[in-house]
Amino acid sequence: MPIIGFPVESKPGEKRCALMPANVKAYTLLGAKVLIEKGLGIALHISDDEYVEAGAELADSRQALLRKANIIAALHKLPSDELQTISAESLLVSYLDPFNESAYIQQLCAANLSSISMEMIPRISRCQKMDALSSQASLAGYVMVLQAANTLDSVFPMMMTPAGTLKPAKVFIIGAGVAGLQAIATAKRLGASVTAFDTRSVVAEQVRSLGAKFLAIDLGQTGETGQGYAQALTPEQMQIQQREQAKCIADSDIVITTAQLFGRKPPVLIDQATIASMRPGSVIVDMAAENGGNVMGSISGETVQINGVSVIGTGYWANGVAKHASQMYASNVLNLIGEFWDKESNQFALDIEDEVLSACVISYQGKVVNKMISDFYQQNGVVIYAKPTQMTAEA
Ligand code: NAI
Repeated sequence: MPIIGFPVESKPGEKRCALMPANVKAYTLLGAKVLIEKGLGIALHISDDEYVEAGAELADSRQALLRKANIIAALHKLPSDELQTISAESLLVSYLDPFNESAYIQQLCAANLSSISMEMIPRISRCQKMDALSSQASLAGYVMVLQAANTLDSVFPMMMTPAGTLKPAKVFIIGAGVAGLQAIATAKRLGASVTAFDTRSVVAEQVRSLGAKFLAIDLGQTGETGQGYAQALTPEQMQIQQREQAKCIADSDIVITTAQLFGRKPPVLIDQATIASMRPGSVIVDMAAENGGNVMGSISGETVQINGVSVIGTGYWANGVAKHASQMYASNVLNLIGEFWDKESNQFALDIEDEVLSACVISYQGKVVNKMISDFYQQNGVVIYAKPTQMTAEA
């Protein structure tokens, strides 16, 4: 019987996990055995007993789990020094950040491990149930608004009281993708006056349907990729955007930036001069702080003060609502594994020709089989040696 193993996350501070007790039955119904590391759900107040009662087995040790499991599912990639413990040809399912982590991908190939990058699940209808980027981004949008609300020294809604009228907070959200739209909805629910901007003008209608204003900026030709991601702007378009949004930023109590470009560094959208134009006490939340930032001066994992403006770069936003985030991520993983489970052979059918798997499988049989990633490595001069034996020979 194939074993699906769920190790404890090794990233410090990470509370989320890739399995909830409610998922165990679904895995066993597929025909798999669920093996968990001791303490898997401890940060979520889920005891080992709850998993065991649901049908999971407790591994003797982390090493034993890594050795025995045919599929290992986690949120973050496993530490590289553990890859040698995992049996060759096992499948790892987690975030892998393959664009930036070529050395790690090399190690996966060298250890002959198959891998699926959760970030690379394609944005097509069939995959919505497996789309971890969306599930976590949506919660991130919610958490960012709450962090901003906690930092701002004013209330969000308009209040008409005998002691006077309080004006609603003005919130400006840059980037109206999955996270931005949830941030808009959350800020609206709290009663703020919300404006948003995105380079993809198709989202204007979605923004308005949430009761927010869409800031119209004429950038000329902007586009989106086949999967609905934004195309990078030209330097001239960036200038126009920065100039046109400056007034709205200066007038806002809170600015939340969620702009991303798939597989590239996020665009820098707010410079020091623009921050200086905001009222002291205002708040900026930079969703992208961890990857370089949309805001000049934001620091990953920290809140910094710039000219009296709090710039929040906490990151790991979904970790702020770790239970629901785990529920969603775990269900994304289950849906992925369930989708490709072959009942007849009772195993995960790793067909790298499949439309979905060809997009998200990164390493297989000692090679990078993902075309987007291998093209990217080639363009950037990254060489991945196909097999461990060849590595030794080249060395
Ligand atoms: P993302 O995280 O890559 O980017 C966030 C937002 O930033 C995007 O809306 C993008 O247009 C915007 N952006 C980029 N550069 C900007 C700039 N200079 N200024 C302002 N905004 C900028 O994108 P996300 O949120 O992951 O989703 C991208 C698209 O994919 C959305 O349209 C979403 O609805 C679609 N999608 C489709 C799915 C499907 O299954 N069909 C599933 C999930 C998302």
